Amino acid sequence: MTASPRGFSPSAHTGKYLVTGGAGYIGSVVAAHLVEAGHSVTVLDDLSTGFRGAVPEGAAFVEGRLQDARRVLDSSYDGVLHFAAHSQVGESVQDPGKYWRNNVGGSIELLDAMREAGVRRLVFSSTAATYGEPLTTPIHEDASEAPTNPYGASKLAVDHMIGGECRAHGLAAVSLRYFNVAGAYGRYGERHDPESHLIPIVLQVAQGRRDAVSVFGDDYPTPDGTCVRDYIHVADLAEAHLLAMAAMTGGGEGAGEVAGGAHLICNLGNGNGFSVREVVETVRKVTGHPVPEAAAPRRDGDPAQLVASAERAVKQLGWRPSRTDLAEIVQDAWDFTQRYAGTAGAE
Ligand SMILES: NC(=O)c1ccc[n+]([C@@H]2O[C@H](COP(=O)([O-])OP(=O)(O)OC[C@H]3O[C@@H](n4cnc5c(N)ncnc54)[C@H](O)[C@@H]3O)[C@@H](O)[C@H]2O)c1
Repeated sequence: MTASPRGFSPSAHTGKYLVTGGAGYIGSVVAAHLVEAGHSVTVLDDLSTGFRGAVPEGAAFVEGRLQDARRVLDSSYDGVLHFAAHSQVGESVQDPGKYWRNNVGGSIELLDAMREAGVRRLVFSSTAATYGEPLTTPIHEDASEAPTNPYGASKLAVDHMIGGECRAHGLAAVSLRYFNVAGAYGRYGERHDPESHLIPIVLQVAQGRRDAVSVFGDDYPTPDGTCVRDYIHVADLAEAHLLAMAAMTGGGEGAGEVAGGAHLICNLGNGNGFSVREVVETVRKVTGHPVPEAAAPRRDGDPAQLVASAERAVKQLGWRPSRTDLAEIVQDAWDFTQRYAGTAGAE
């Protein structure tokens, strides 16, 4: 485990926060960082894709839906970190209504509950999927927003809703647009079912739980012909959330304070792309296991490259990602996969 994130000594800036989706992958890592920094944390999660055992010790847990935020929030809360969502791109294409109902409908309920309780600070999990196919790379926040699936569209709709809530009712908000989140933080890691993210899939091949990793297209205009993505360590991502909240509570490290009425949108990535082949090769080196590949046709809507410019998060929030080495990201995910994924302690 790393030390408490920069700028968050337990004696300064401690607050009381609601973490929606805090039994899931990213929410549990952020909740753990908040608890370690001395904050008071309540997790609200319906366990639809999360795990009770992933809620950190020291955090209160309420099993419930976003629609239940009203019975949890009161004016003693300093803010909300909102992770709860469905996030499977393929499923969103098959069943778009499920995504609009949960991601958009649930967020409306949350924003209403926050306004009624007088809770006026929000950090929201947005996504690179709001941009769709990039016209230029790296992707800046002023890039055109043209999501190519209902998941990305639902997240963009929530970003628009949040902007309106800030303007109309003085909410302060930071939307963080994650690129490919990976790695683990001790016992907190990635266990999606079905798994759709590349690194855990390749690790499952290394473990012998899958026969081969499908490489979708090897004739893209990239150095080795496979798609390039920007991988960000989940612990670096967690630190950005605490910095975002600090930017709203006056304890920030960056250039920008986010006051009531303001909505700051920041990309979070390393600005470094790694190809599918580089990920597979890194998994072979870290695990010492062979990882067979199976060539597969390109998938519709898979851009050749998705790489973030995170300049704004660095400047405005004072964010300094420190785990940018792909081997370190894979090593932490591998340790988690071997020690915790699928164990009783993780349920
Ligand atoms: N994993 C990534 O690479 C990535 C990239 C970009 C954005 N995001 C966003 O980050 C957030 C967290 O993603 P994750 O990978 O940790 O997913 P996850 O599925 O592990 O976590 C989501 C959590 O939210 C809970 N949940 C879902 N709907 C709920 C509702 N209506 N009420 C209460 N709880 C609910 C689930 O039970 C789960 O614990 C999501 O909003 C996702 O869109 C993730």
